[in-house]
Amino acid sequence: MGDLQRLTHKLALSAEAGNVDLAAFYLHESQEQLRKIQTEAPEYENIPVALLIDRLAHPAYEQMQQAVTAKNAKQLREAIQPIVTTCNACHTATQHGFIRITAGPEVNPFNQSFAP
Ligand code: HEC
Repeated sequence: MGDLQRLTHKLALSAEAGNVDLAAFYLHESQEQLRKIQTEAPEYENIPVALLIDRLAHPAYEQMQQAVTAKNAKQLREAIQPIVTTCNACHTATQHGFIRITAGPEVNPFNQSFAP
C-alpha cells in the first residue's frame, strides 16, 4: 500500500503536468502493484482484498487509460479523481476509513521533474 501511495502520487503529478508518457508509465506501475497485492495478500484479516481490488480498484483506472491513449492532457488531469476516490472507498469498506488519500498534485516532494 505504501508503494501504491507513492505511485499514485507520482501518477497525479505526471497527470497534473500534462505529461502523457510519464502518466502512462505510472499508470502501468500502479496496475502492476495492485496485481502484486492481489497475488501476495488476496485476503488480509478476513478482508477479501483481491476481490475488492477487482471490483473497486481496477475499473477506476479506465478513465486514465483512455486519457493516456487519447493523449488528452485535460482528461489526464480529471482522471486522477476516480482513482483517489476508489482508494478511499476501499479503505472505508475495510474499516480503514481513517486512511484518507488525496491526489496532492500541488506538492512534489520528489527529486524528480514531472514536466513533459
Ligand atoms: C482492497 C481495498 C483497498 C484498495 C483498493 C486500496 N487500499 Fe489502501 N489499504 C487497504 C487496507 C485494508 C489497508 C490497511 C492494511 C495495511 O496496509 O496494512 C490499507 C492501507 C493503506 C495505507 C496505509 C499504509 C501505509 O503504507 O502508510 C496507505 C497509504 C494506502 N492504503 C494507500 C492506498 C492508495 C493510494 C490506494 C489507491 C490507489 C489504496 N490504498 C487502495 C485497502 C485498500
